[in-house]
Amino acid sequence: MWWLQPLGVFLGLSTFIVYSTWAAFQGAHYTHGPYLSPFYSPEIFGDSPHSWFGPKPGFWPSFIPFSPALLILWAPGLFRFTCYYYRGAYYKAFWSDPSACMVGEPRNEYRGENSLPLILQNAHRYFLYIALAFIVLLAHDVWLALWFKDPVTGVEHFGIGLGTIILTVNTVLLGGYTFSCHSLRHLLGGSIDVLSKHPARLKAYSCVTCINPKHMNFAWFSLCSVGFSDLYIRLCSMGIWTDWRIL
Ligand code: FES
Repeated sequence: MWWLQPLGVFLGLSTFIVYSTWAAFQGAHYTHGPYLSPFYSPEIFGDSPHSWFGPKPGFWPSFIPFSPALLILWAPGLFRFTCYYYRGAYYKAFWSDPSACMVGEPRNEYRGENSLPLILQNAHRYFLYIALAFIVLLAHDVWLALWFKDPVTGVEHFGIGLGTIILTVNTVLLGGYTFSCHSLRHLLGGSIDVLSKHPARLKAYSCVTCINPKHMNFAWFSLCSVGFSDLYIRLCSMGIWTDWRIL
């Protein structure tokens, strides 16, 4: 039954890639009330009130479809694509290299990640820096998701909707995924010979080391939560689902 796990990874990642690519190209139904889909955050250019610099810029080539998600989704996408855990999982699931742990692969030599193109996977640590900034931005989105505009007076009131909770859980899971990253451990402890001489770094290193064994769990739970957050906001925006207001 060794093929069961690679098959599950193949189906799970394929589903996410198909859905997220479709959602990213829609360019619509990515906000609902104070909620902004994490696929579209930050909205650098766009038509919603969340946009930083207004609508689509004039220099955007007309032959390229525009969607605010296309401007930013490459960063979290490449962070996941180069993740040490996902590499181990999709090398097996998508091109059988190796087919599974302890299962022979359909080639005679092992080339590792020492040459092109796989040597580019080493850029993971740089995508980590960007991913850390995204966590701050998503936390800000959670804060904005607590303020609902009165449709009559236009005044904003504090409130909590189901969408607020979904975005909060999503940010916590994405934070868990990012802060349990192997590269963050290297970043905190890799350049120091005697870590105990740097108490603050040692503490941070210990925290990351503590949650690092859960990295795979965070990888899958956050993948599901980020996809579901977009789906929830999309269906609410389309009028198919109604956001449940708790407060
Ligand atoms: Fe998975 Fe860095 S190792 S996100």
